Amino acid sequence: MAPPFIKQAVKVVQDNFLEMSSYWDKLGEDRILEFNHWMKRYFMDTVFITAVSKPARSLLCYYNEINPDNELNVPEFVLKEADTFLQSIDALVQSLIYFISIPRIIRNFPGIHKYTQYIKDKINWLKNDINDIIKSRREEIFKMPVNQKLIPDILVMFLTANTERDVTEQIVDDLHDKPMSDKDVESNLLAVLSGGISSSANTMCFIVYYLENYPEVKQKMMEEIEHVIGKDPDSSFTFESLSKLEYLEAIIKEESRLKASCPNIARVNSVPEYVGGYRWSKGTNFLINVDGIHYNASYWKNPHTFDPNRFLKDPENERNNYMFGGGMRKCPGRNLAMVELKVTLVMLYRKYDIELMSPLKEHIKTVRRCSELKIRLKRKVQN
Ligand code: HEM
Repeated sequence: MAPPFIKQAVKVVQDNFLEMSSYWDKLGEDRILEFNHWMKRYFMDTVFITAVSKPARSLLCYYNEINPDNELNVPEFVLKEADTFLQSIDALVQSLIYFISIPRIIRNFPGIHKYTQYIKDKINWLKNDINDIIKSRREEIFKMPVNQKLIPDILVMFLTANTERDVTEQIVDDLHDKPMSDKDVESNLLAVLSGGISSSANTMCFIVYYLENYPEVKQKMMEEIEHVIGKDPDSSFTFESLSKLEYLEAIIKEESRLKASCPNIARVNSVPEYVGGYRWSKGTNFLINVDGIHYNASYWKNPHTFDPNRFLKDPENERNNYMFGGGMRKCPGRNLAMVELKVTLVMLYRKYDIELMSPLKEHIKTVRRCSELKIRLKRKVQN
């Protein structure tokens, strides 16, 4: 992704974290937080605002939901829209597997049909919402003088790619030399929303779980943060200083090696291939076993041990890590994801001590999900 966009994201994520921590502070230190639910809303808001520069307000909505006696005063329609948005994103993620794995005839059985219709309705709502945003932004850009600088969010990058106002610094390749239609923009935005929220939310939960179980790793991470960025939980920081947090980056990679968000990656071969000594005809469905690669003792020393240092000592390890997949379809949001995770970890750990209040529960289907992680936060005393 274009560097100006990533640099801007550092600030956007910091602002979003401050909003979340203001709700935590209001709830008080005795409150047990369902961290997995918070992270889902947090990354929903973060991805939405980085994508279209509009607030999704799902954190606010969640705060009101779990704190009915002390709700913040927000118009009902805002909360309703935030709620529908969250449900629609969930439906979109579920649809990716549902419509591929359940045959049409079964989807239309009485009883099941109602659920099928629910998913379709939610996705249609989301598409309409996204389309309104696309149309009004296209119009806004069209009316702006050519020399006026555009804020490079994801939508603006899609809308201007291969036009005279391209903010992507010609990120596209020679095969894609035409501007994107509204339909192209819609499907790419939906891919961003379905790919960019739960992956980051789950990764954050797993990282916190590891850090709380490996105090020596947490200590080393804190020393690096204090050295590079400083101790003051309220001071802001830049992309440049974030890039110097090598140990923090190694922690993220090591967590994702042990608990990859996508434990299986799907591919279809477009030409006949030889794999594993067999010839596979064109159009074969492959599932790449990412966990199998990440736990393979021929690539990793003590593969089941959590040891972030392995990514500092041996740069070769980078090649065998498929946290973001690989090849042409490698995650296009990986730079943004790294920035989001680093900013969040810095802000979380500079400000709070964390106490785990439940074992972590995980659930693996197509993706690896954290289905429960309860924590309590205590503000750090500054000395
Ligand atoms: C820790 C966070 C994330 C992880 C672990 C992750 C992981 C992945 C993986 C494994 C894939 C499949 C790659 C392949 O098939 O080789 C993928 C695809 C994708 N990711 Fe991410 N991702 C993360 C965050 C994001 C973010 C923040 C965005 C966007 C804002 C994003 C957008 C996408 C999209 C659009 C695809 C589909 C790409 C395609 O089909 O060509 N991801 N991601």
